[in-house]
Amino acid sequence: MTNPKISLSELDTPLKVLFTGYLTTVAIGYLFALIQILFTHGMADGKFGLSLDDIVYSYYGNRSGTVLEKKLNGSMKDKATEQERFAIMQWVRDGADEMEYSNQKIDRIIENKCELCHNEGASGIPDFTEFENVKALTHEDEGATFSSLTRVSHIHLFGISFIFMFVGIIFSFSTTASSKYKSIAIGMPYVFLVVDILSWWLTKLSPMFASLVMLAGTGMGLSFAFMWIVSLKEMWFINNPWFCDPDSRCQRSLKVVIGLWFKAIALIGRLIRRDIIPKLFSFLKDSFNWLYNKMK
Ligand code: HEC
Repeated sequence: MTNPKISLSELDTPLKVLFTGYLTTVAIGYLFALIQILFTHGMADGKFGLSLDDIVYSYYGNRSGTVLEKKLNGSMKDKATEQERFAIMQWVRDGADEMEYSNQKIDRIIENKCELCHNEGASGIPDFTEFENVKALTHEDEGATFSSLTRVSHIHLFGISFIFMFVGIIFSFSTTASSKYKSIAIGMPYVFLVVDILSWWLTKLSPMFASLVMLAGTGMGLSFAFMWIVSLKEMWFINNPWFCDPDSRCQRSLKVVIGLWFKAIALIGRLIRRDIIPKLFSFLKDSFNWLYNKMK
């Protein structure tokens, strides 16, 4: 049943101005958030644009090796013999322990082969006469730290739930969609928000959850866009003589455009029901298996 006491199109103009001002600034904020994501996470793999790799590098880290190993296979390859390089890498893999550094005579290799250049006098390259400087290059990039994730998680949960509170209240006065679809649209962002935050933590544990970050972010954006467009449309563009005369050609083409928009949303809904939800279920099953095996 769609029979609200107040409808957006009948609101007083001052209230419409207030709602529109809020929706506009929040949309600009959203745009900046997207730009920021592109420039921070988007560049994580060195290429522009957001990809699954970016998400994996940002949360899980790039664990294909440490700087020391990468260099020993790269530009420092010819600085030591095969066996020496192997010995250093083995030591790194075993945890880069300080005792083992001298026990396994890694210190000798570094002293003989590397300190020629990597010494106190060198500028711009690490000084290997100090163990700490060697050690510093043996850490893997482990992505986001737990403390940074905790910080960003609570800021996002508090901040974004507030944004969707107001967007949802405004949208709840709309009359275009039935009560059922309105409830779905209002509830969706909260589901996606929780899934989004949860998926960061899961991606920190395993890269297989990166697609969940993508999915939740996209879902949140779509719900936002849907509520935003419907609310603004009802406040200013429906049955509003300033904009179009009722029953004019302009009003009719507006209805066609809005009809298309609804068809698109319905199509996405069907796609989610038919293709994404079954995939999500099998994915969740795999994840639980994975977590279960990890905890065993
Ligand atoms: C002939 C001089 C020279 C020798 C010998 C040398 N290096 Fe280097 N090393 C450099 C220079 C120059 C750079 C910076 C350019 C680069 O990264 O390729 C560098 C960079 C590095 C880096 C990257 C540092 C960073 O912070 O990105 C590592 C790691 C490294 N060297 C390890 C070694 C090891 C291990 C050895 C010994 C097996 C060694 N190097 C021997 C000249 C040398």
